[in-house]
Amino acid sequence: MKLPLLEDLGDVRGRTVLVRTDFNVPMSGVDDARVIADEFRVRAALPTITWLTERGAKVVCASHLGRPKGAPTPKYSMDPVRRLLATLAPGVELRENLRFSPGEEGNDPAFVAELIQGVDMYVNDAFGAAHRAHASVVGPPQFLPSAAGRLIEREVAVLDRMRTSPKRPFVAVLGGAKVSDKLGVIEALLDVVDQLLIGGGMCFTFLAAQGYSIGDSLCEPDQVDHCRQLLQQHPSIMLPDDILGLDADGVYATFGKRLPDGAKGMDIGPGSAAAFGDAIMDARSVFWNGPMGVFEDARFAKGTRTVAQAMADTKAFTVVGGGDSAAALAQFGLADEVDHVSTGGGASLEFLEFGDLPGLAALRKAPNVK
Ligand code: 3PG
Repeated sequence: MKLPLLEDLGDVRGRTVLVRTDFNVPMSGVDDARVIADEFRVRAALPTITWLTERGAKVVCASHLGRPKGAPTPKYSMDPVRRLLATLAPGVELRENLRFSPGEEGNDPAFVAELIQGVDMYVNDAFGAAHRAHASVVGPPQFLPSAAGRLIEREVAVLDRMRTSPKRPFVAVLGGAKVSDKLGVIEALLDVVDQLLIGGGMCFTFLAAQGYSIGDSLCEPDQVDHCRQLLQQHPSIMLPDDILGLDADGVYATFGKRLPDGAKGMDIGPGSAAAFGDAIMDARSVFWNGPMGVFEDARFAKGTRTVAQAMADTKAFTVVGGGDSAAALAQFGLADEVDHVSTGGGASLEFLEFGDLPGLAALRKAPNVK
């Protein structure tokens, strides 16, 4: 069933509209000197906010920031975001951090009642939080005419196309530290992709499953059997053939698939990076989530940089799942070179895995949806 969109709200003139945004932005600095390190998520909410204000609605935004665990915490105050929003969308209100109340994560009905007091309509544009069944995500649409904002509309259209009717070859590139976090999405992707390239810390659990020695590299021993099964069932999985890292004496070195005792893999090697880049260049759709190595350290950024560059250069339709891979793209100055950078890290992966999210399902049940 389709999501209700802004047009489905009816006349918004003179109405107070609560817009759930994901202004969970990365911050740098401390205390009063805290500044927003990346404004992407705030700017991404502007099309929805502007659509509403241009039609005469009074917009009240609400978001979480960080994980303050249900108590007011000065370093997670929305003040810096409120100052930015005042310059981008004057007159738009921004409430204090939703997670300052335990009712938000606890999805407490009393907190939902508080949230919707004095509000006529609800819009969810917080794609990055739509996988959380929290009060501000699933509560208001039970009571108010509701809609998905423009950001959610686009995120869902792009990701849904990837999971249901991608142009082929469809290549997914996954990295990041832990395989256990991503097994669900790995299995879902293996059903649709033509090739799944695995790098980052999690490739070592797969290499261990193939019987290679991985030295002191990251490994989740309890996932080795599962990874072995996946490798047996899916020849479409491609692992690195060479690895960059540190030897037992902490000296920078290139290894093959077999790492000596005490060595630590920190990035995919140059041969693997080139092979991953070639697969991306030959694809017609690519989804990328998770860095190929510890890219914050320049010695181990090459694998991630090569993947990012191939994402920018390929003619394929390219989608980057948020979080670290989006940060890497931005660090390499390539964020504008891909077709879609998702504002959701966990949310984009969960959407690919399940094809739906609690925040989307709640909108479809709103009272204005026939
Ligand atoms: C994110 O940054 O992925 C979203 O804002 C969700 O944040 P959370 O993981 O703290 O729920």
